[in-house]
Amino acid sequence: MAAAKKQMTVNDFIDLKRQGQRITMLTAYDFTIAKILDQAGVDGILVGDSLGMVVQGRETTLKVSLDEIIYHAEMVGRAAEHSLIVVDLPFPTHLVGDHEAIAAAARILKETECQTVKLEGGVQQAGTIAALVSAGIPVMGHIGLQPQSVLTMGGYKVQRDEEQLLADAKAVEDAGAFSVVLECMEAAIAAKITAALSIPTIGIGAGAHCDGQVLVINDLLGLTDSPPRFVKEYAQLRSTISDAVSQYCQDVQSKTFPDSSNSY
Ligand code: KIV
Repeated sequence: MAAAKKQMTVNDFIDLKRQGQRITMLTAYDFTIAKILDQAGVDGILVGDSLGMVVQGRETTLKVSLDEIIYHAEMVGRAAEHSLIVVDLPFPTHLVGDHEAIAAAARILKETECQTVKLEGGVQQAGTIAALVSAGIPVMGHIGLQPQSVLTMGGYKVQRDEEQLLADAKAVEDAGAFSVVLECMEAAIAAKITAALSIPTIGIGAGAHCDGQVLVINDLLGLTDSPPRFVKEYAQLRSTISDAVSQYCQDVQSKTFPDSSNSY
């Protein structure tokens, strides 16, 4: 029997960077997928507010509530024995004050088995990150394209302001975050940020030089219509599911399912 893999911690993330080993992360929103990812050995599972788009079918992540994130995080947290679980603080829980941010993050830690939170924002959110960390809550930062700010950013665009991105990354590290997501920015800028920080960078659409990578699981599995350019589809589950469902309908209509082997 294979030895059980140990539970990842925030210190393991930092050690992986020091050892020059890449960190693997994927999103999950339910028990079944989280169990598969955990057993496959991914280092981190993100209960992302991307669930607003890929689970709820909304245009943006803005409408996801804290109760909804906790509902999904509870299922994912129960599935994971190895992966570090990171849970998004949904809009606007961390924007309305440090007290509210700590109260929201504490609900996540108390009501689920998850260990850390992620929040979007750089220089402007550094104070809140520091407040969370002093309350004993591990924080993953998130800079570059910030989907919760899509209305002010004017769309889902590649970020190119090197000076601002470096300042945001530094502010997140100085505030005490254990890691930071770099979303949708020029690969050369992400490489400079990664070299400048001692905490690991986790890239999505940020090139090959980040310390780790994260993808939305629906994108990786080929479930998303027209995924962004930075996605690599490792399976084509849309067509697999569609073919299976068509075959099932045909079998039921032609009375070939169920047969004696599916009956009591
Ligand atoms: O919500 C999410 O899935 C994310 C990733 C895109 C990093 O924040």
